[in-house]
Amino acid sequence: MLRSHTCGELRAENLGAHVALCGWVDRVRDHKGVIFIDLRDRWGRTQVVVGPENSAELLALAKTVRPEWVILVRGTVGARPDGTTNPKLATGAIEVSCQHLEVLNEAETPVFQPGATDLPGEEVRLENRWLDLRRPAMQENLFLRHRIVKIMRDYFDDLEFIDVETPMLGRSTPEGARDYLVPSRLDHGAFFALPQSPQLYKQLLMMAGFDRYVQVAKCFRDEDLRADRQPEFTQLDVEMSFVESADVMGVIEGLVQRTAREILGLEVPVPLPRLTWDECMERFGHDAPDLRYGLEIVDLTPEASGSEFRVFKAAAESGGRVRGIRVPGGATRFSRKELDELTALAVEAGAKGLVWLKVEAGGEFSGPVAKNLVGEVGAALRAKLAAEPGDLVLIVADSFDVSCKALHTLRKRLGATLGLYDPNSMHFSWVVDFPMFAHDAESGGWASMHHPFTAPRAADLQALESDPARCRAQAYDLVINGSEAGGGTIRIHDSATQEKVFKLLGISAEMARERFGFLLDALRSGAPPHGGIALGIDRWVMLLGKLDSIRDVIAFPKTQKASDLMTGAPSPVEAKQLVELGIRTVVPPPKA
Ligand code: AMO
Ligand code: AMP
Repeated sequence: MLRSHTCGELRAENLGAHVALCGWVDRVRDHKGVIFIDLRDRWGRTQVVVGPENSAELLALAKTVRPEWVILVRGTVGARPDGTTNPKLATGAIEVSCQHLEVLNEAETPVFQPGATDLPGEEVRLENRWLDLRRPAMQENLFLRHRIVKIMRDYFDDLEFIDVETPMLGRSTPEGARDYLVPSRLDHGAFFALPQSPQLYKQLLMMAGFDRYVQVAKCFRDEDLRADRQPEFTQLDVEMSFVESADVMGVIEGLVQRTAREILGLEVPVPLPRLTWDECMERFGHDAPDLRYGLEIVDLTPEASGSEFRVFKAAAESGGRVRGIRVPGGATRFSRKELDELTALAVEAGAKGLVWLKVEAGGEFSGPVAKNLVGEVGAALRAKLAAEPGDLVLIVADSFDVSCKALHTLRKRLGATLGLYDPNSMHFSWVVDFPMFAHDAESGGWASMHHPFTAPRAADLQALESDPARCRAQAYDLVINGSEAGGGTIRIHDSATQEKVFKLLGISAEMARERFGFLLDALRSGAPPHGGIALGIDRWVMLLGKLDSIRDVIAFPKTQKASDLMTGAPSPVEAKQLVELGIRTVVPPPKA
């Protein structure tokens, strides 16, 4: 070992000890001929002093040292002089008087200094990720990730789950995204798909009798990226046999409790609140609502349809809905410009416009369209909304889906800008009873809301073919602070139901046999009832670490454009490789 201690370890108890430290130079100061070097490693920082008592040679060498050089120091632990101790630093009571200094490696002037407080743009951080990862804040994030994954592994190990690795090179597993494909060299024109999730493998492990499976699994999805999505991400993937929804949820609630306790020192009461999907959409306009604040959506269709206001009438008559949010005390909180911004936000989310109304001291509405909402109609709307003088009311008239999107967007914006919740608070809940199917705009048919292997509720089995829209799934999503932190379902475990669902999804019997024949065969060879869930590990770390970007909890993430700025991936390959793979590419012509 080159060192005796780490840079975060020495305390007053070590006074007088001869030590050897290694690390990166965080900062160097020359204070009237005394050189102070802050030495940094993943454990912390220690101050090293080279002064006039040292040889001229050592002093000269210390003066050459620059930030991010890697050095080895031998010396004696001493107390910092009175008035120079640093209570913010774990090692702030001591310093190491240097007797020997060795430069293990010099560093070119870094593009940015990991020790500095001002950071460059994210592009520069991603291009120089090794430097960015030297920053204590980034190291904290990855330590937190390690601790959370360790808790997960220990928890499931205690419950006798077995960790099984499933292949990366396989067949497409549909989870609603595009596949990342890997061409086969030995079978030209054939491709592996990287797993969107280990879904089918884990189900087959249940059919093989493993009963309880867990895996920290890499998943790949070629989809539009957002702040909480990456093309390559990690799931804590779980499957159990002989269970119902409540059993899987119960196991995850235990994990939520243990993680919250050990990471945040927080006691989370269980069972967690459960909302049905229908209730979520009605009250919050979204299937992963942030329940840390109110601003619930109120249906005003019956009251509004009695009005002569063109906008409301048109929506109600075309089968749409008129829905609104009351912002308590909001009448004086927004300037006209801010109300225009809220309108623009609603329009961006698909709405045709936004009606905003202030409730005046006399109880009447004011605002650009208030004249249309006087008398009985106005009174009925205010009564339904429980609106008081001083409140602001925001109303969207549109199809149910569009009103959900627009009001959810407004609710989220208002919750954050009005400071309606403590950003440090945590709220865990379940959303259950999702629809089995959603209309697929592209094909005009049905698409799975989760995936095609999800079981309908027993009571809805009959409705599977007669009324698919009404059919609800044995599905449950874990929501943390308005983020979907996990999702799972009870699976179909008989081939007849599975075949029915494939058919509904427009997958013909031949196609089903071709793509999922192994599953149908396994379902006919003694498949236990089973179900499971997958938790988004990256999102858990983000949420528990109170971080805004998923890229801050992944060591080497991709950009929003799914590229790796450090390695330059994806990149063109050599013509020879393409020939071997039997691939010819169609590259867009260079721009003139
Ligand atoms: P689902 O598709 O809901 O379910 O994924 C489970 C959880 O994974 C996380 N997640 C993501 N995290 C980061 N980037 C992404 N692109 C991304 N996509 C999903 C979310 C999500 O809740 N096989 C099923 C699980 C099951 O039924 O057991 C599945 O993959 O937190
Ligand atoms: P217009 O007559 O289209 O200019 O609309 C009158 C007002 O109603 C404007 O303030 C619009 O923003 C608003 N508005 C128009 N359509 C809708 C709608 N579908 N839902 C809510 N507000 C709307």
